[in-house]
Amino acid sequence: MSPTALRRATSAPTSATPPTATGAVASAGTATPAVPASPLTSAGDVLRRCRELTAPALVEAIEGLHPWVAEMAGYALGLREADGTRVEHASGKGVRQALAVLGAEVVRGPARAGVPAAVAVELVHTFSLLHDDIMDGDALRRGRPSLWKAYGTGPAVLAGDALFALGVETIAVTPHAGSAIRQLTTAFGDLVSGQADDLLFAERPWTGPRAVGVGEYVTMAERKTGALLGCALALGARLAGAPDRTVARLDRAGRHLGVAFQIADDVLGIWGDPNITGKPVHGDLRQGKKTLPILAALDAAPGGGELAELLAGAGALDAAGVRRAVALVEATGARTRAEHAAHHHLTEARTLLTSPHLAPGPAAELNTLLGALSERTV
Ligand code: IPE
Ligand code: IPE
Ligand code: MG
Ligand code: MG
Repeated sequence: MSPTALRRATSAPTSATPPTATGAVASAGTATPAVPASPLTSAGDVLRRCRELTAPALVEAIEGLHPWVAEMAGYALGLREADGTRVEHASGKGVRQALAVLGAEVVRGPARAGVPAAVAVELVHTFSLLHDDIMDGDALRRGRPSLWKAYGTGPAVLAGDALFALGVETIAVTPHAGSAIRQLTTAFGDLVSGQADDLLFAERPWTGPRAVGVGEYVTMAERKTGALLGCALALGARLAGAPDRTVARLDRAGRHLGVAFQIADDVLGIWGDPNITGKPVHGDLRQGKKTLPILAALDAAPGGGELAELLAGAGALDAAGVRRAVALVEATGARTRAEHAAHHHLTEARTLLTSPHLAPGPAAELNTLLGALSERTV
């Protein structure tokens, strides 16, 4: 443990401050769901509405952690700086918490029924990012140094462990706890399988019989990303008392959304602006990740052959190699093909969500959110 870390470990307990607007609602214990009279038509507004509903419970949950771990959790969630000072910093988009709230509302439950699911999935998601940045060696997350860069790898692993346990605990005290916990742990088991394949694929060759196929990629993406998005929707619905059949349908829709979302994330990993995404660009290329735009480009002629040679060269790509690789991928039209693939999975998700049994207002908001997530306009 570094001296700074040790100082943090032994400093006086600190607690995160709830955002004022929503904190008052939480402390009064009367969280009134701000269900709009007519559906919101901007994905940003949908995310904001759901974030405001969830924030007080999220803040309260991390307050119960060991003070040092709470500080790290506050940093990861954008509530604190690395020196422990409180701030509300731009953080994650809050996609999973929004899906959980909408999952409850779309089955005609109150938004508040989905809040424990929202807190749980956002905590578990943040945990997965803390560990993912260590696995991927990525130093930037949510526009700031990744937790392992700011606090060290060991502490970041520990903070991740705490967030996972807290996520499970959050739903352990709800009605339907048994089935809800199973839903979350099953999804997390899938996420682990997806992450395992993501790591193993990086060791596989770019071409030849052992090359990673598009089908394998889709299965990997569904697990590493889709499982938790599906779980978010399903868990919200489950806590609102929806029958198993509806829960399963929402889970499947979220998994398709996850594949679309991951493809869009892969596109941003090549063409995104770190000032907007808050994440590094070209990390996937340097790490040999089998992302969909690259797999699509390798299949294409001309350009695929030179790309394969470049990627198979000894060692990680240098800056010039990355520039050439990006140019080759672009020239093959692989970006457009990846975007079409994302659109296909978005359509599958939307089809699953088209049902007269679902509440039309929340279903419309869900639809708005789905489009923006797949096209990454939020
Ligand atoms: C990042 O997810 C990890 C992926 C599944 C691609 P988000 O893009 O939802 O991350 P935050 O929560 O907004 O930071
Ligand atoms: C996202 O993995 C899925 C999980 C965190 C489990 P990625 O490694 O593709 O996501 P980013 O690009 O780092 O957010
Ligand atoms: Mg990563
Ligand atoms: Mg990763």
